[in-house]
Amino acid sequence: MKGLILAGGTGSRLRPITHTGAKQLVPIANKPILFYGIEAMAEAGITEVGLVVGENRSEFEDAVGDGWQFGVNVTYIDQAEPLGLAHCVLIAHEFLGDDDFVMYLGDNMLQQDLVGFVDKFEEARGAHPELGEDPRPAPAAQILLAQVDDPRQFGVAEIDEYGEVIRLVEKPADPPSDLALVGVYLFDPTIHEAVRAIQPSARGELEITDAIQWLADEGHRVVHEVLRGWWLDTGKKDPLLECNRLVLETITPSNEGKVDGASRVDGRVVIEEGAELVRSTVRGPAIIGRNTRLVDTYVGPFTSIAADCEISDAEIEHSVVLERCRIHGVHRLQDSLLGREVEVVRSELRPRASRLMLGDHSRVELE
Ligand code: TTP
Repeated sequence: MKGLILAGGTGSRLRPITHTGAKQLVPIANKPILFYGIEAMAEAGITEVGLVVGENRSEFEDAVGDGWQFGVNVTYIDQAEPLGLAHCVLIAHEFLGDDDFVMYLGDNMLQQDLVGFVDKFEEARGAHPELGEDPRPAPAAQILLAQVDDPRQFGVAEIDEYGEVIRLVEKPADPPSDLALVGVYLFDPTIHEAVRAIQPSARGELEITDAIQWLADEGHRVVHEVLRGWWLDTGKKDPLLECNRLVLETITPSNEGKVDGASRVDGRVVIEEGAELVRSTVRGPAIIGRNTRLVDTYVGPFTSIAADCEISDAEIEHSVVLERCRIHGVHRLQDSLLGREVEVVRSELRPRASRLMLGDHSRVELE
């Protein structure tokens, strides 16, 4: 079994962050989103991972390298244009060969690991002869589904009385079920035939839902599993902050930095090496990155501050701050995502005014 992680795409919903960096490398609890997916693959026993990347390949190479740090071997697959999830399978054919594989969207985060999901498929495909012969033909695909409140915003699956997937519909006005497609799929090599057989959709992409529908229509079995625990598509700010909150709730507190006598650390807090708190309070769950300095500052719950930031006379809560930011005199910042080397400072100049220099697609909500 191989792994295929999709980390190309446009990332338009997370601009301006994605003007200068890949959304899959935005940190959650100070670890890039993509790393959680690679770790889940490694844990499921997958050692050969293909990473589909767009124009920022070098950023991924710097962060992930050859995958050695995760115990996997990473092969980079260039996608010149984001032409759809099924297009990723098309261009990954040489890497995938005739192996079964798990495909994973690089900006998704799941609470559930992949071990049971992968085992179930391997079992159904006869990888466990000790379980005896299953009289049915082996499934060609297995998809992960989640129960959602409003299926009209998702790709939705229709399941027959035997639990097999018979139809997939994108954003249906009249949903056949409340089971939405999560970004994790298992395929056997029949999928290569499917992605060659389908045509681009109205939005000009080769859709993986169309390829899976082709499998079902051609009489191949498509089975499913319903997700346990939470699942988030981190491609937008608010779900990304929500994901940060959920992951921070699970961190193990530690302190490798310096906390002076006038500072306070409450609850589940990680203070990384070289970080320093001066007359500051951190109320967890929160993480303070390497060599970050907090002076006369309050950091509230569900906040991740990355490495090398300078924060003084400020209050910040429920936010994600990337490396080398400077925040001064700001009361108070919340529900915010700051990219690298962002400065947010209170101006001493008269007349009092907000003075902004914002990149394209920035968004500011003033008090
Ligand atoms: P999406 O989040 O659906 O698409 P996107 O990255 O273009 O984002 P936006 O809608 O904000 O513009 O893609 C899901 C994942 O799949 C994500 O990690 C990017 C990746 N992807 C590719 O690698 N190639 C593609 O052609 C597409 C469409 C997505």
